[in-house]
Amino acid sequence: MFHEEENNVFVLENGKVAYALYLNEAGNLENVWFGKALSDYRGILSARNVEGGYECMYYDVAAGKERKYAEGFNAQCSPLEISSHGYADKRGAPVIVRRKNGSFATDFRCVRHRAYAGIPPLAGMPHARGEGEACETAEFLFKEQSSEVYLTYRLTLYADKNIFVKSFSVENRGEEPVSLLRAMSLQQDFVSRDYKLVHFHGRWMQERAYAENDVYDGVQEISSNYGRSSAEENPFVYLKSADATADSGTAIGFNLIYSGNFKFRLFSDKFCGMHVTYGINDEDFAWTLRRGEVFQTPQAVMAYSYEGTDAMSRTFHRFIRENLIGYKNNNAYKPVLFNSWEGCSFDFDTASVCEYIDAACKIGTELFVLDDGWFGARNDDTAGLGDWVVNRGKVDLHKVIAHCREKGLKFGIWFEPEMVNYDSDLFRAHPSYALGYRKDGKPYLWRHQLHLDFSDAEAVQAVYRQMKAFLAEYPVDYIKWDCNRIVMEHDANCAERQGEMYHRLMLGYYSLLGRLTEEYPHILFEGCAGGGGRFDLGTLYYCPQIWASDESDPAERMEIQFNTSLGYPLSCIASHVNDSAVASYATKAALALFGTYGYEMNPNELTEGEREELSAIARLYREYHSEVIEQGELYHLLSPNEGNRMCMQCVSQDKRASLVLLMNRKKELQQFRFLKLKGLDKRRVYKNSYDRQVYSGEYYMEVGLNLFFEVLPEFSSRLIVLTEET
Ligand code: DGJ
Repeated sequence: MFHEEENNVFVLENGKVAYALYLNEAGNLENVWFGKALSDYRGILSARNVEGGYECMYYDVAAGKERKYAEGFNAQCSPLEISSHGYADKRGAPVIVRRKNGSFATDFRCVRHRAYAGIPPLAGMPHARGEGEACETAEFLFKEQSSEVYLTYRLTLYADKNIFVKSFSVENRGEEPVSLLRAMSLQQDFVSRDYKLVHFHGRWMQERAYAENDVYDGVQEISSNYGRSSAEENPFVYLKSADATADSGTAIGFNLIYSGNFKFRLFSDKFCGMHVTYGINDEDFAWTLRRGEVFQTPQAVMAYSYEGTDAMSRTFHRFIRENLIGYKNNNAYKPVLFNSWEGCSFDFDTASVCEYIDAACKIGTELFVLDDGWFGARNDDTAGLGDWVVNRGKVDLHKVIAHCREKGLKFGIWFEPEMVNYDSDLFRAHPSYALGYRKDGKPYLWRHQLHLDFSDAEAVQAVYRQMKAFLAEYPVDYIKWDCNRIVMEHDANCAERQGEMYHRLMLGYYSLLGRLTEEYPHILFEGCAGGGGRFDLGTLYYCPQIWASDESDPAERMEIQFNTSLGYPLSCIASHVNDSAVASYATKAALALFGTYGYEMNPNELTEGEREELSAIARLYREYHSEVIEQGELYHLLSPNEGNRMCMQCVSQDKRASLVLLMNRKKELQQFRFLKLKGLDKRRVYKNSYDRQVYSGEYYMEVGLNLFFEVLPEFSSRLIVLTEET
């Protein structure tokens, strides 16, 4: 896949897409092609000819004289893999190093390169997986011109999917410490700006709302400084060519295998190109590197599609399922879940929980989860966080678990490991574990809680010990890992290294989550952060599913589900049916089916009819979830971002079964006919559950399913099952 052409041209390709680099004689690594694989790269160097001029000169410090860059190179606009900082290139460097003398001029030049099979794992951080022939990595070693700082740039391409992974690691080989003022994961330059930029913004209960903007002159920035990937902006971002549709045109998706602050910065320059840098947000970031120390950035992932935006989405889905999620049982069937939170909040005891379990069994529940409120002095949100011991006066967990087992259910539990309440034994014994405590004694409260200082290994250990003790006594099959507070005291607790705090908190999060998932490989971990505030690839590495939002009402949830699935597989979008009044249980359940499927309501209040509706969907889940939703291919047929309807279709890998979900927001008076499906085998025939007729795959895809139904009320749905007729 990696080959070196004549004239210092390197090509990494998989037969479908390619990345061609040119190492010029000054040591700058130029990006000469990023797109469809070509059959011949001989002429590729003419692609690099840009406006020349005075920018072509540079001063070679080692040689003590001026030199000319290679012909055709322009330091201000030639597409590069690493721009310099403090020189002619004003587009924005991905990495900035400040030396002891105060200078932050940074100029990396390539000194060595090699290529190898696989992608190296990152220690202590989530990362892409791929061994042997799965992918290939091109590695370039750069030296900073005025110091002994070295940078390793890795570019990986997968053999069976159009996924590129990029990262940098920076090493100080000099005597004096240096400070990293910026350490992004990726620079991606484009020679055109004829694209639209799509990102997913929002807030609690409205996560991942779709926003599409033209690329305009100057800087566009998508970022989080909340101390987590956030509900406000998601790290999944994409560019699509101006003519792109779901099935045609170019789409380039970006994501970061990281859960903390990030910044996607797009600068459209005076030459009408685009310069993207992406990685850890440099706001309040500074990292000291002493002699011999290395800073590894998170990995940035790009999915390249020349077949429209939906192929980009499916490429991400496959990558996440096959090369990211570490959960060993990920391909095994995942049980229908019942979560106690929206039904009873903090208000329960042993008897009421057992009653819930009995009622939950009647709607197909296979895993019962006791959410917040079972530990310490937790009867509301003012106390108890940090004390991960069962409140035996409130609930007898042994009895609850035994009751689950009797009923044939699995059992799961809720934790919020990174948090502490003032009113807790942990805080009383170790106030210094709380982030901000040392600041002025008055840290900001958010939901009455404080963030633990997870940059402190002792604080992490204190939580780990408690969780271990709990797990030794109580056999659980599932853990929901919540995090209900953003970071507001990153300047505290480490006076000299404040710029490191945000990232160190992430490393602490990964160290605890990494240890527990390693030691309890059978436990299904679900990520969560006050709804969907930490829905990212970093968390998915450890947790195969993430609670997408506290909003389960289809009015909003339809968009949350659809938009999240543009970048993440449905199998990791944790979704439940709740008791919101807007839509029927059948509609709410159909939507949750296009996710992990579960419930949260008071099950005692369900009518017989509602129980039947929910049980019917649970049966569909059991029959089709693994093959069709979890491992199948997803097609986005109608976008709720563009109209009143939303339609998603999943097709099993063997193309024998398909599920279609069609929903509308407002009432539909006009008839809507001929829903064209995708992804079927045109030669096979399928029976559908709508008109119960049998048609060929070709008919469904070319003519479309004739939906001749009457008026559709608001927030209604149609769930259609297609099965092959043999
Ligand atoms: C926020 C989560 O999103 C909810 O599902 C629930 O677990 C609460 N936290 C519990 O405090």
